[in-house]
Amino acid sequence: MVIVDQGESVNDIPHLTIDRSLRELERARSLIPGGVLGIRRPYNFVEGEYPVFFREGRGGRVTDVDGNEYIDFLCGYGPIILGQREQEVDDAVIEQIRERGFCFSLTQEVQNELAQKIVDLMPCAQMAVFVKTGSDATTTAVRLARGYTGRTKVIRCGYHGWHDWCVEVKGGIPEKLYEDVHEFEYNRPDQLADLLGTHGADTAAVIITPLGHPLAEKMQEPAPGFLAEVKRLAELHGAVLIFDEVRTGFRVSIPGAGEHYGVTPHLAVYGKAMANGYSIAAVCGRRDIMKTGEKEVFISSTFFPNSLSYVAALTTIGILQRDRVLDAIHDKGRSYIDRVQAAIDRGGYFERIGAEISGIPPMSFITFARDEQKRYKARRELFYTCLIRRGVFQQPFHHGYICYRHTDEDLDYTVGAIDEALAIVARECP
Ligand SMILES: Cc1ncc(COP(=O)(O)O)c(C=O)c1O
Repeated sequence: MVIVDQGESVNDIPHLTIDRSLRELERARSLIPGGVLGIRRPYNFVEGEYPVFFREGRGGRVTDVDGNEYIDFLCGYGPIILGQREQEVDDAVIEQIRERGFCFSLTQEVQNELAQKIVDLMPCAQMAVFVKTGSDATTTAVRLARGYTGRTKVIRCGYHGWHDWCVEVKGGIPEKLYEDVHEFEYNRPDQLADLLGTHGADTAAVIITPLGHPLAEKMQEPAPGFLAEVKRLAELHGAVLIFDEVRTGFRVSIPGAGEHYGVTPHLAVYGKAMANGYSIAAVCGRRDIMKTGEKEVFISSTFFPNSLSYVAALTTIGILQRDRVLDAIHDKGRSYIDRVQAAIDRGGYFERIGAEISGIPPMSFITFARDEQKRYKARRELFYTCLIRRGVFQQPFHHGYICYRHTDEDLDYTVGAIDEALAIVARECP
């Protein structure tokens, strides 16, 4: 995979053959509402350019159903921290299936091992519970906070999943299920102070992603003192501070972005990267709040104690620690961002087309600044079209991730493809 000649125009880069993907999408549309769910729908990429179905993956690469191979920077929307089909993790899971089994009427001991690991690793964690998805985890944390404080209101900042209290699309949800939830913008402690000024006595929880990662926008690091101020305000009003580390936990650092920026919450939730793709999420935090889950607050599902994910999480976390995986990801990501930034600077692409790279080494995003004529939309579409045609799978509306198995060659190639795409956008969509 080496770009020998950089194309002058998008037409110099062959359109991918995605016929099978499109046929499967037609079939899926008659079977499943929308064919595929949510953010995986074609309009969330560049329709007609991106594949819709993947067949398989290995390491940092994936192959679609038409046989096109890509360097994958979306990593399953975050869970793939090591790489696809990471043998040590999969072997541990297969051993659990073959030697012990994983779905029982009582809990297997491996639960305690994983809980001990979380308590040992996470500064806020005196106790933990395990659920299946990030949405389960944020909802559990909010319920614990409401049970603990006896209050109703929740003040939130960021995406926290698809459950009734927080989903953006309100279809099918009675207003009373979210009327006690208020939102503030990232890096705007004044908005939080105002909301708490009005609702402080009724507020059970303030929940926030410690890193700002709004859809289709530049990523935001916390302004100096922002997270500490959020904590101070929450404590001033007696609310539980929850850090939603679903994207950042086990990726930015093992405890996550909160610790990275020096602030410990009362509760933290994790998901995505903690088990390299197996479905598990965790809620952990202060003992007195977590203990609300003993009686007042009910936390249960048939599949929560399914031990395959516990084994996958323990093995993944073990590898992250043993091989200093996150240090390696930071190094790769730092070099990637620096080289993309250098390409932007060299071509004057910020001034010419508003191109920017934001974020932090493990997770970054190339966006185009909004302009009055709304050319940023066409620039974004053209840029990501060039990348996908070159076999670089990045998401036009969502930041990407670096995984451990991305090789230097993958990153060199990607930087070359980005350089080419920026030049084409500057030429064709100035
Ligand atoms: C910060 C954050 N919280 C919660 C969630 C919900 O997680 P899940 O999709 O596993 O339900 C997501 C998912 O993208 C997320 O990014």
